[in-house]
Amino acid sequence: MKKGWLEGSIKRIGKLESYVRPEKVQGAIKLDSNENFALDAGFIKSVAEEAARKVDLREYPLDELDQLYSQLGQYTGIEEDCIAAGSGSDQIIELLLSTVGGKRATVFTPTFSYFVNRCELHGIKVNTVPLSRNFELATREFVRSAKNSDLVYICSPNNPTGNQFGRQQIVDIVDSLDGKLVLVDEAYVDFADYSLSRDAARRSNLIVLRTLSKAFGLAGARVGYMIANRQFAGVFRSTIQSPYPISVLSLAIASGVLARAEHVKKTIDSVRSERGRVMERLSGLNGIKTFRSDANFLFVETGMSSGVISKALGSAGIVVKQLGTVSGHRGCIRVTIGTPEMNDRFLQCVEGALS
Ligand SMILES: Cc1ncc(COP(=O)(O)O)c(C=O)c1O
Repeated sequence: MKKGWLEGSIKRIGKLESYVRPEKVQGAIKLDSNENFALDAGFIKSVAEEAARKVDLREYPLDELDQLYSQLGQYTGIEEDCIAAGSGSDQIIELLLSTVGGKRATVFTPTFSYFVNRCELHGIKVNTVPLSRNFELATREFVRSAKNSDLVYICSPNNPTGNQFGRQQIVDIVDSLDGKLVLVDEAYVDFADYSLSRDAARRSNLIVLRTLSKAFGLAGARVGYMIANRQFAGVFRSTIQSPYPISVLSLAIASGVLARAEHVKKTIDSVRSERGRVMERLSGLNGIKTFRSDANFLFVETGMSSGVISKALGSAGIVVKQLGTVSGHRGCIRVTIGTPEMNDRFLQCVEGALS
């Protein structure tokens, strides 16, 4: 090893853009991270207490992971052999990049910045293809760019724009990129109309990433999963993933919540209906532009400067994700759909800032 390699590596890594974690503002209405607050805190707490009574923390997790696979199989309708879990979908992305990421990736922009940051960390060059002003994806341009890369990332529904791309469009992209790995990040799919999970189980070059962090209200438990063909899922489970990626407590909590998936589905329905209501109210406001969302958040162009919006929302104790100018849209924010009360507070605040 060359002398000074460590200093050189640290210097290179230190210069990379890192993922900026959201700030915790005590007592604030938290609409910045797309968590599911329509799911009652008491519900999650009681599942967690039951899980804590059940598990023996002295032992490594063994049966608990099998139990999770069986429940995820039931929930998604996918054979459990095609499912592999990780400590959040973030960790699965990380492992895929470090093992089968290749040398070059193609993404569209704007999208989930974590993916791009991690490619840079692993020395994977990133081609970017901009979405249109209405956040549509130009298939031909995207495929052309993807043809000279090894890996393709498609976030659908996309963070931060909220829209899910058409099923046929994505399937066509996957089919025209035989031999390239296509990762479709479906972190928000439980709020959308279709999933490509079944297609992933049948194809050789498609992996779908999903998570319990959003709809299932378990962002703090760190449980994500991927769906791929049986061979790839098997290799991921046996060799790529570490033996005990998820704590026994998180696994037991995840199983407890999945056993009550019917209750979770009711909160998903309420978020979807609130999404329509919030969007309609915002669309009626002068200067505000909203965009179709298939996720549990809205992308909103306020037209105001970031200082004005953050001051108005900050003084009302509301935190949203400030995006600035995106694809030519000014004063953009991404706001999570919360409970009807949280949403009303947000709407009143925006209405107040405009009056
Ligand atoms: C598109 C997307 N993918 C993945 C994640 C991370 O999910 P997890 O909590 O499962 O790591 C997020 C979280 O914000 C996300 O927005």
